[in-house]
Amino acid sequence: MGAGRRGPSAPRRGGYQDAGPGRRPAANTSWDPLAEWYIGWVGEDGSKHHRLLAIPAVMDALGVRPGESILDIGCGHGVLSGYVSKEGGKYTGVDASPKLIDFARNHHARDGRFMVGDAGDLAAQKDLRPGSFDGAVFLLSIQDMEPMAPVLQSAARMLKLGGRLVLLMTHPAFRVPRQSGWGWDEGRKLQFRRVDRYLTPLPVPLKSYGDRGGVSRSYHRPLQDYVNGLGAVGLAVDRMDEIPTWKTAETGPKANAVNTANKEIPLFVGLRAVKIR
Ligand SMILES: C[S@@+](CC[C@H](N)C(=O)[O-])C[C@H]1O[C@@H](n2cnc3c(N)ncnc32)[C@H](O)[C@@H]1O
Repeated sequence: MGAGRRGPSAPRRGGYQDAGPGRRPAANTSWDPLAEWYIGWVGEDGSKHHRLLAIPAVMDALGVRPGESILDIGCGHGVLSGYVSKEGGKYTGVDASPKLIDFARNHHARDGRFMVGDAGDLAAQKDLRPGSFDGAVFLLSIQDMEPMAPVLQSAARMLKLGGRLVLLMTHPAFRVPRQSGWGWDEGRKLQFRRVDRYLTPLPVPLKSYGDRGGVSRSYHRPLQDYVNGLGAVGLAVDRMDEIPTWKTAETGPKANAVNTANKEIPLFVGLRAVKIR
């Protein structure tokens, strides 16, 4: 993984106009106020969830071929870039957070180019040409963007005809933030998942910005909103992967039941869609 490198690498390509101090986030859903926390929390190369589950699933669905252009939308600090470049793909990462983009440029410059931008208006970026990408990805980012319709429209516009879009997110049918959780059925000696609500889209506060005021939000939506939202912009879903956690319980009287539940109830879902018009 190219992402395994530490510290500044090759000089930044391009010299984008958005470099420099005092830059503002490109969207109000940007994680700029959480940038230091996010990098510390998931780590420079991504979390174990990234490395064991989310990134392999994205790379498998995307199937990058050498020379293909890949757009990573909501790229954060660039954890995917090294994987795409290792396959010979030409990587472009876009994120609304200048701080995360700075970090990505300083750590992954060899793996591609990075720019500050709003996923809802990608065509506003002078360095992004509509119809020029073979693939696009939302790696754990689509659920942090709102409204979703212009974001999907904007991504579809960037793709070539036949290009593919991959969405990887926490499974909205089972992992509704603050509205789902594990329970224990004593009679049947099994761990179950309860889901208190699902169909109604719901903004969920995630993390406070601290002294700066404000809070980041995740936007829960049912699966039908993703499939129908993709269809509305000419993207036909042709693949879905439901991915359980890597975690296992090794000890304790409930270990077997916990492991069964972990294997049966997915943590992530991946959707792939192809641009058909
Ligand atoms: C949970 S982070 C995921 C980052 C990265 N894909 C990863 O897996 O580490 C969500 C990212 O979406 C970005 N984001 C939110 N709204 C955005 C928008 N409208 N345009 C571009 N990026 C956005 C945030 O700044 C943040 O970096």
